Amino acid sequence: MPKDVIIALDFPDRTHTLEFLDLFKEEKPYVKIGMELFYRAGPDMVREIKNRGHRIFLDLKLHDIPNTVASAMQSLSKLKVDMVNLHAGGGIRMMRDAADALHTLGPGRPLIIAVTVLTSLDQEVLANELLIGEMLSETVLRYAGNAKTAGLDGVVCSPHEAPAVHRTYGTDFLTVTPGIRPAGGDKGDQKRVATPEEARRLGSDYIVVGRPITRAADPVSIYRRCVHDFLGTS
Ligand code: C5P
Repeated sequence: MPKDVIIALDFPDRTHTLEFLDLFKEEKPYVKIGMELFYRAGPDMVREIKNRGHRIFLDLKLHDIPNTVASAMQSLSKLKVDMVNLHAGGGIRMMRDAADALHTLGPGRPLIIAVTVLTSLDQEVLANELLIGEMLSETVLRYAGNAKTAGLDGVVCSPHEAPAVHRTYGTDFLTVTPGIRPAGGDKGDQKRVATPEEARRLGSDYIVVGRPITRAADPVSIYRRCVHDFLGTS
């Protein structure tokens, strides 16, 4: 299974995004386009970045009734992105209908993964605000099981949850892990964090790194260090 570092392009507009991508002269990083950029710059931004040769994880975290999410997935698949996602909290039927909509596209289809529990949430918020009494780790595992049952390719989770997900659902079931902070970095709003090196040891398939790279004085060198620490190469 290919492993890689995905840069979260959490920029407010097209200009900032392209300025950032232009810094990369020698490599074409795998990038993630989330709500912030997509709602501002739209599908054209996705096409433009794709045309520049980047692989794209379109992180729109869909969550609605099954029919709406399945139709939305069909629309997104027209953008030829490499990975899409939805919230496991939408239930197995929603995930299955979405996955089925993509499976009809055949081998070149985007990977589809489920967000389990956001890495910005912790046990206390889960219990007191979401009213989920189970342990957070158990909730992640059960949601991952629902995603597997629904025919998805993997889940978004914290690197710390990757070993249990792989043990339970197999190493082919992808773990895409945000909440990455280089050693000594600021945690910001993330709670369940790991360094790229820890994520590698924990078996993450893809790490998603945003602000530690995008807000760095020298983003390219931080990206390269993440690649080195995560993949063990330069
Ligand atoms: O800046 P930072 O490295 O925290 O960015 C993490 C990225 O991963 C953000 O774009 C965030 O939306 C995304 N993400 C996350 N937790 C999830 C799913 C996606 O942090 N469970």
